Amino acid sequence: MSMNIAIDGPAGAGKSTIAKKLAKELGFIYVDTGAMYRAMAYYFLTNGIASSDETKIAEACQDVDVTIAYENNEQQVILNGKNVNGFIRTEEVGNMAFSATSVYPVVRTKLVELQRKLAESTDVIMDGRDIGTCVLPNAQVKIYLTASSKTRAQRRYDELTAKGVSCDFDEIEKDIIDRDYRDMHRETSPLKQAEDAVLVDSSEMNIDQVVEAIRSIYEEKKGC
Ligand code: DC
Repeated sequence: MSMNIAIDGPAGAGKSTIAKKLAKELGFIYVDTGAMYRAMAYYFLTNGIASSDETKIAEACQDVDVTIAYENNEQQVILNGKNVNGFIRTEEVGNMAFSATSVYPVVRTKLVELQRKLAESTDVIMDGRDIGTCVLPNAQVKIYLTASSKTRAQRRYDELTAKGVSCDFDEIEKDIIDRDYRDMHRETSPLKQAEDAVLVDSSEMNIDQVVEAIRSIYEEKKGC
C-alpha cells in the first residue's frame, strides 16, 4: 500500500515549499493540487469562458484533459497535451482559479479523481485545501499547516519587495484575510482542519524547522 501525506492549509502558509522539500528527503512524489485548479482556470481564461458561467464551465470540463508529469522531480501540469507550467503562476490565473474553478463541484470532481489515482499507487505528499478532509481521507499522515495572517503577509511583502515590486503591507494582509474567509466558507470542500490532522503553526518557525516537525510526525506514525 502506498504512503500518503496530506498537507492542507490557507494560502501563503508555505505548504508547497515544505512539501517539496520533504518529498525530496523521503523520496516521495510531490503533488501540487493548486496547480491543477490553476490549469483548469487557464483553460477557461484562454477560451473566453467567464467565471460566472457555470453551464459553459461544466461543458468545457468534458473537453479538458489535465494530467501531470515529472521533469527533474518538478511537477509539470499538462493541459490537453501542452505543458502549461509556465503560464499558471500569474495573478490573473490565480484569481480565476480562486473565484471560478475551485468553487464548482463539476471541476472538483474531475480533479479529485485524478488526485486519488495518483495517490493510489505512489507514495505522495499532496498539498491543497481539501486533501485530508475529502481527497485522501485515509492518508496515514495529515497536517494542517497554518501561520498568522501577519506572518503570511510579511513573507509575501518581503518576496515582492525583493523582486523590486512596490506594495502595501495592509493591502496584502487584507487580501490574505479575504481569501481565507472565502476558502473556508465556500459550499464545496471548504478549507478546514480534518479531525485527525495535526496542526502545525509556522508563524514562529523557519522552513527547516517546519520540515523537521512534519518529518517527525511522519516517522512517529510510520513506527506505529
Ligand atoms: O494553492 P494555490 O494558490 O495554487 O491554489 C489555487 C486555487 O485553487 C486557490 O484558489 C485554492 C484552490 N484550491 C482548492 O480549492 N483546492 C485544492 N485542493 C487546491 C487549491
